[in-house]
This record gives sequence, C-alpha cells and structure tokens, in this order.
Amino acid sequence: MVESNSSANSASPSPAPRTELEKPIYDPAAPSAIEVEHIVKKYGDFTAVDNISFDVKEEEIFGLLGPNGAGKSTLIRMMTTLIPITSGKARIAGHDVAKEPNAARRMIGVIPQALTSDLDLTVEENMNIYAKLYDVPAKERKKSIEELLELVDLTKWRDAATKTLSGGMRRRLEIARGLVHHPRIFFLDEPTTGLDPVSRVAVWEMLGNIKAHRKLTILITTHYMDEADRLCDRIAIVDHGKLVALDAPSALKASVPGSNVIEAQFDNPPADWEQRLHALSEVTSVQHEGAGMYRVLTGNGSRTTTELVEMAVAAGVPVKSLSVQNTTLDDVFVHYTGRQLRDELQKAYAFVMPQLPGLQP
Ligand SMILES: Nc1ncnc2c1ncn2[C@@H]1O[C@H](COP(=O)(O)OP(=O)(O)OP(=O)(O)O)[C@@H](O)[C@H]1O
Ligand SMILES: [Mg+2]
Repeated sequence: MVESNSSANSASPSPAPRTELEKPIYDPAAPSAIEVEHIVKKYGDFTAVDNISFDVKEEEIFGLLGPNGAGKSTLIRMMTTLIPITSGKARIAGHDVAKEPNAARRMIGVIPQALTSDLDLTVEENMNIYAKLYDVPAKERKKSIEELLELVDLTKWRDAATKTLSGGMRRRLEIARGLVHHPRIFFLDEPTTGLDPVSRVAVWEMLGNIKAHRKLTILITTHYMDEADRLCDRIAIVDHGKLVALDAPSALKASVPGSNVIEAQFDNPPADWEQRLHALSEVTSVQHEGAGMYRVLTGNGSRTTTELVEMAVAAGVPVKSLSVQNTTLDDVFVHYTGRQLRDELQKAYAFVMPQLPGLQP
C-alpha cells in the first residue's frame, strides 16, 4: 500500500492521520446505515444524479468527493428526504426514505452546505431552538447541549451572539446543533469549504471527538482531498452525476498506475518535451501544467528522476525545480475523471534544485 506523504510538505496544518489500525476494515456483511440503490435525480431533461449505488456501514466515515455540480448535494438531499427521488431507492437504517420519511428523519442529523444558524440568537439559543424542534425532552435538552458545546469547544461562547463567531466556530455550532437529538447517522455537506486551514482541522478534530463519544455513522462531502484521504474509511468519487470510483483511500491510490509523482519545472523545454518525458522508464502519464511545469506519474520514482535529470542535462534544458512524492488522491481523481480537482493546500512545496554546473542557465 502506498501512503501519501503530502502532509509532510503541506503548506498548512493537517489533521492527524488515522492509522491503518484505527481504520475499520470494510466488511460487506456488517449492518448498513445507508443503502442507495440505482438512485437517479432528473431536473427536466437534465440528469443530476445518474444511477448511483453504494452502502455505508454503521460507524463508517464515508466521503463523497467531486467537483462543483457533480451531484453531491443532490444525493444528500435525496438521502435525507429533502427532495423526491426520480427513480431508485435510498434506505436510512433500514427505512425507505420515500415510504417512511419520518422514520428516516428521526435517525439523521443534517448539516447543509449553507450556514443556517440564526445570527441574532446566542449559541445556546440556537441549540435550544433545534432541541425543541426535535422534541428533545426538557431535562435531556440541557445535558445534551452542555455535552455537545463541550465536544465542539464552544462552552465558553454559549452566551455569545452567533454573529460574533468566526466561520469555523459557527460551523462547529451547527455541527453541535445537528446532533442535539442524538441522530445515528450524520450528513455533512462541505462542512469545511471556505474555512481557513486551522479552522478546517478544528472541525475535523471536533468530528473525531464526537465520534469517540457517540455511536455515529458519518457521510461527508468535501473538496479537500487531503482531509478525505486521512479521515474517511471509504471514498466515493462522483463526477457528472455518476459514481466513478469507490474504495478505501489507500486502495484508490493503489488502483492508479504509477506509485510516485514527479513534479518538475523546466526552463524553455522543447515542444516534444512531454513525449520525451513519457518515454522515460516506468512513466505511466505526463501532464503539462503550464509554465514549464510537468507532473509525471511513474512506477519507480528514483529511476525516472535520475533519467529525467540526465535527459535534461544532455538536452541543455535547465531544471528549475523538482519534487518526488507518493501518489495522492489528486492523481486518483485525474485518473478517474480526466480532470484535476487540486486542493491548493495539498500542493507539495517543490524543492528548488541547487546550482549545479550545467543545469542552470
Ligand atoms: N433544483 C434544481 N434544478 C435544476 N438543476 C439543479 C437543481 N439543483 C441542482 N441542479 C443541478 O444539478 C447538478 C448537481 O448539483 P449539486 O448541487 O448536487 O452539485 P454538488 O456536487 O453539490 O456541487 P457543489 O460542489 O458546487 O456543491 C448541477 O448541475 C446543478 O446545477
Ligand atoms: Mg453541493
């Protein structure tokens, strides 16, 4: 198995990786919390979700990954009874969402993509309103709110007006609020989009904290592949409404030909440089990213790197920078969709080549 090393080079703090031992091994026979079968959503002639099937096991953290417009929110809205399903089925803890929507709703907590807490209320008031809405008995309400505010580290902000909170704190409040009625299955639609890197890590830590205290299945959508890689047990990649890949992050990475990625920038490479890079030993794909930068996937990082530098020296093409890293979920995404979904924060710092005679202009 190839593990990403991008966190070591990342420009921002990353959530602590879950070790392989901590990650439950997917067991198809284990009870399912969510089952989706051939689900379709059409808006007129447009198919937003196109025949997707998967199941999420109890207590799994399941990630939905996909570019804008892929159909992630539409999938969540169907699974959570918010919009009708065109065809196919979704079951929540065994309840068909079309036939038993109320039973399904009682099992779930939902954090929609947009922030929805009331800015004019205090933190505690926002929690209380939800608890009342979900008929949490008065004596349980106080205890549950206290426990959740503690878990999301907002206890000392309980009397603060929500409008005074940062985006990350507001997200944490909404996560706590979504759990006030003790749901078993928690849907979060891009809970970290738009947050700064430190707040993103805090949100994931809170989720980890909550999961350690409560029996919870989590389905989460994100654009951030480093988060998905470290925190999800399995990941489904969705593109143009279709499921294009589904597996554990390590298995997804192993399914992409090539185990290393070389990012190299050259000064004025010749027109056929991409083809020449492709011809090096064990190279499986080459992407020209502009400004003389190439991303080369290879089955043997050290051998290809040596050949690449030798070729550049022989051709008199200066190497401006060079980095070698393990395959990441970015590469998985490119492999399955043919496009990039690059999280800027995940980009490794390329190490700048030392001034070697013959390599520099
Ligand atoms: N009510 C609607 N009517 C028509 N088209 C819709 C409607 N809701 C969503 N769509 C379309 O369905 C597709 C999927 O949208 P969806 O919001 O599910 O994507 P997403 O993966 O959540 O994207 P994002 O990352 O931007 O949140 C998009 O092309 C969107 O324009
Ligand atoms: Mg969405």
